[in-house]
Amino acid sequence: MVHVPVLFKEVIEILDPKPGEFFIDGTLGGGGHAVKIIERILPDGTFLGIDWDRDAIEHAKLNVKNQRSKVILVHGNYADLPEILKREKLPRANGLILDLGFSSEQLAGKGFSFLKDEPLTMRYDSSETGVTAADVVNGLSEKELADVIYKFGEERFSRKIAKAIVERRRKKRIETSGDLANVVGEALPKNYERGRIHPATRTFQAIRIYLNDELGNLERLLDGLGKILKPRGRAAIISFHSLEDRLVKNYFKKMKKEGKIEILTKKPALPSPEEIRANPRSRSAKLRAAIIL
Ligand SMILES: C[S@@+](CC[C@H](N)C(=O)[O-])C[C@H]1O[C@@H](n2cnc3c(N)ncnc32)[C@H](O)[C@@H]1O
Repeated sequence: MVHVPVLFKEVIEILDPKPGEFFIDGTLGGGGHAVKIIERILPDGTFLGIDWDRDAIEHAKLNVKNQRSKVILVHGNYADLPEILKREKLPRANGLILDLGFSSEQLAGKGFSFLKDEPLTMRYDSSETGVTAADVVNGLSEKELADVIYKFGEERFSRKIAKAIVERRRKKRIETSGDLANVVGEALPKNYERGRIHPATRTFQAIRIYLNDELGNLERLLDGLGKILKPRGRAAIISFHSLEDRLVKNYFKKMKKEGKIEILTKKPALPSPEEIRANPRSRSAKLRAAIIL
């Protein structure tokens, strides 16, 4: 399945890439936004695409290699962008897009989805060996688990879920996304959220955010915006849940107060009903954008 870029028209309109400009996509993924940006910076433009998932970088290479612009693809964390620019001997850019959601098609096999039964890895970075979601779920204390699920999942049944996880893992280590989804499902009331979302949605979100330090990465990126973008440079950030959106909103507010940016989206841009119908993944997307002063 091909990843459909979210808020595509809005992103391109607001970033307004022009011929010869230098643009960065910090979350390249399937290259959906990237292809259009590259098209717009031709000729003589420079494009830097980053993704933490090496497979995404390999895959995206195929999509962009015939374009006539200078295209540089780097496997890495967007939070390290100031260092990546230095290492690649690149100047500050005219524009940056971050599309923070994860695409399940692309990250298949890693246990990101509660609808599949896969090893519980949940790491974006495919090349790194290290702590996995299974280690987190089987290793944190009951209190730590409850705190993670509450803080990063905004899940009011966090204590109940943590208790159920600890009880289950006493009998057998939780190894797969299916195992975790079952434990969570069994711990929650039958009419959880009136059936609006899958009972494991918030717990999976919480473990993923915690393990990959997603909010920490976003914060580092926002802290470094002045080193990533030149004056008049545009940043567009698409978030998929309130924790991320709040972070971006508050950072933008603070930077505006300090006279460092101008906010381009008084209210976040949201997908139209048509987009949501065509691409349900876009449902919770919010786009905020700013221009560096
Ligand atoms: C929703 S996808 C991007 C989709 C892309 N905009 C498109 O249209 O095809 C998000 C991507 O961000 C990557 N990612 C998540 N956290 C990252 C980080 N800290 N640094 C770099 N890439 C990251 C994921 O691996 C995933 O490929």
